[in-house]
Amino acid sequence: MRPQIKPENPNFSSGPCAKRPGYDVNQLDLSVLGRSHRAAIGKQALKSACLDTARILGLPEGYRVAVVPASDTGAMEMAMWSMLGERPVDVLYWESFGKGWATDINKQLKLDNVRTLSADYGHIPDLAQVNCDHDVVFTWNGTTSGACVPDADWIDDNRSGLTFCDATSAVFAKDLPWDKLDVVTYSWQKVLGGEGGHGMLILSPRAVQRLENYTPAWPLPKIFRMTNGGQLTEDLFTGATINTPSMLCVVDYLDALNWVDSIGGVPATVKRCNDNLAVLEAFVAQHDWIDFLAKDKAVRSNTSVCLSVELSGDQVKAMIKLLEQEQVAYDIGAYRDAPAGLRIWCGATVETANIQALLPWLEWAYNEAKSTH
Ligand SMILES: Cc1ncc(COP(=O)(O)O)c(C=O)c1O
Repeated sequence: MRPQIKPENPNFSSGPCAKRPGYDVNQLDLSVLGRSHRAAIGKQALKSACLDTARILGLPEGYRVAVVPASDTGAMEMAMWSMLGERPVDVLYWESFGKGWATDINKQLKLDNVRTLSADYGHIPDLAQVNCDHDVVFTWNGTTSGACVPDADWIDDNRSGLTFCDATSAVFAKDLPWDKLDVVTYSWQKVLGGEGGHGMLILSPRAVQRLENYTPAWPLPKIFRMTNGGQLTEDLFTGATINTPSMLCVVDYLDALNWVDSIGGVPATVKRCNDNLAVLEAFVAQHDWIDFLAKDKAVRSNTSVCLSVELSGDQVKAMIKLLEQEQVAYDIGAYRDAPAGLRIWCGATVETANIQALLPWLEWAYNEAKSTH
């Protein structure tokens, strides 16, 4: 039977993700537009983006936040290019984006003394193998496999290396243990449903120490530079960006932060993600034709939820197309490098009622695709 009720919002993409509930572009405070980003008004907006982020995330004293170019990729690459090479590196990956960082380290930076620990889609590597006196590069939540680290207990509190964590699908979705993380990156268009183009870079005091005491052997483009004469460019962490950001995107991010404040902060955004995942878990438990790529609940993402379906690759494509044609789910195909299946974003901006409304449609589209393709 074709279901009757459609999700009010069919946006389940894993990035850019759904706008927050109640989002209205006309409600944004646009007074900064058409002005210099270095004028007091622009600088203040950028400063708020940094300092409100630190406050809402509950970052420890001394942690710094910057808005940097080129989204999460820009933030990760400027950190790796600026700080790696000082000591051996353990790089961990279990899906496409993490693999990209391993490629950067091994083939672009061409570092010696690198251990690459990897696992297949749906799994994570053995975290007990990690040596925290090396620099450690990992992705908290592998967006394309839906597998994440279960916790940070494997990170030594007394480590001498730095931890570099691409947490783009985890910040605001997990209660992150900041003391274990020295470099954290994310982008606005993920859990908060902001706009793309800008990266957020969070640095611990030990990361700053590395920046001030280590100069890599390779040249750094201006877009990556965070120090001047061996000193941290502190202005960068209070809104003086390296180059020109989109102030429209900045204002949109501030709107998203306000929303987080208004619903109760990070505990509320984490709960929204967990509630969304729980709805899918109940559905998977009741249907034997669908399963999580990450079968172990401990490593299952509560944002990018990746599912395998008992259909051929062409049938999965037909299923996804049907759901799009019916305007009940957009952009839910698995990432191009991942095994065929579905990926349903469960981040904080997705309403649980919309995930619920999607379920009968999943079943309907599965049966249609199975019988007609
Ligand atoms: C884990 C992870 N890292 C990096 C990226 C790249 O992010 P951006 O497009 O913001 O640079 C993505 C994008 O989905 C991602 O999921």
